[in-house]
Amino acid sequence: MNSRNLIKKNALLFAPMEGITDQAYRMAMQELYPEWDLFYTDFLRIPSEGLYTKSKILEHLGSEVFNSKRQNDKTIFQILASESSHIIESVTSIKDLGIDKLDLNLGCPSKKVNSHKGGAYLLSDHAALKKILLSIRDTFSGFFSVKIRIGYRDDLLFTETLKLIEDCGVEAITLHARTRDQLYLGRADWKYIKQAVKTVNIPLIGNGDIWTVEDIENCFHETGCHAVMCARGALKTPWMAGLYKENVGRIHMINQEMLNRTRAEQIDLYFHFLEKHYRKNGYREEVILKRFKGLCQFIFEDFFGAESIRSLFLRSRELSEFKANLESLQRASVYA
Ligand SMILES: Cc1cc2nc3c(=O)[nH]c(=O)nc-3n(C[C@H](O)[C@H](O)[C@H](O)COP(=O)(O)O)c2cc1C
Repeated sequence: MNSRNLIKKNALLFAPMEGITDQAYRMAMQELYPEWDLFYTDFLRIPSEGLYTKSKILEHLGSEVFNSKRQNDKTIFQILASESSHIIESVTSIKDLGIDKLDLNLGCPSKKVNSHKGGAYLLSDHAALKKILLSIRDTFSGFFSVKIRIGYRDDLLFTETLKLIEDCGVEAITLHARTRDQLYLGRADWKYIKQAVKTVNIPLIGNGDIWTVEDIENCFHETGCHAVMCARGALKTPWMAGLYKENVGRIHMINQEMLNRTRAEQIDLYFHFLEKHYRKNGYREEVILKRFKGLCQFIFEDFFGAESIRSLFLRSRELSEFKANLESLQRASVYA
């Protein structure tokens, strides 16, 4: 598969998010907001001891990918590995299952993951990084991308890291423009995205603090990146890809009133489609309620009185109470 065909110019990518972007969530978003060009699974850690069975890998991916061409075409499977992981065996199993798009997580800042020499740690250990990239590349002939940060502690190895990745046959790079030590602090610095675009000849996907349709436009304009990826912004405004694509060339004409109207129209649909797909995937009501509450952190951020609205929803004891709150929110027209 050719990366230039898979990741179209100016594509909008829905980021991998642990605990959120499982099969049910992705199915709901793909049905309701098909304007997102690609979705990712969250990461599956490749074990150092023992091997995953094929059914464990399938469980992480969700079998729907094989029932629906649209799901299959739009889903990239993310893994996380360290030098000691059983990479060749695991990637062979992944390949044998018919998975043909793989992304390696090189940005995870978790202390536990980094102490096991995985995720963003690898940005500071080029010998291990090269070994891992070549093992995957030699085993896997499908589309292979990586997701990185600027560096581990600082940016000193940034250019060298980019070149190493490209030289190992990786087909696209997503850059979350912060170092590992920055975690989520401050603002992502897009000048590194611009620098990366100039350094490599493979598609560069810009990521970090793309919250609005203006941010999408500005990121393309300021950095020249091939595509953008949204994580928290996509949880706050899951319909953002459609809003952007419908208004390309006249983004400046989108006003607050239009944004509020869209939010009011979409919020019910969002939870409705999620519930449908959570149920289809066998989630119990308590689990659905827990998931919904997790999403409240993001989805109500733009509302007038966001804190009190959020706490009202978080107090829901039953799914029915959560849905009743949604209805009263709709009726009260509290959209700012
Ligand atoms: C809840 C949550 C879970 C995440 N899980 C993953 C993950 O599994 N794999 C990954 O590569 N990045 C993960 N990330 C990082 C995001 O994909 C993204 O790089 C980061 O949030 C910056 O983008 P943003 O400013 O649009 O949020 C996660 C982020 C959040 C907020």
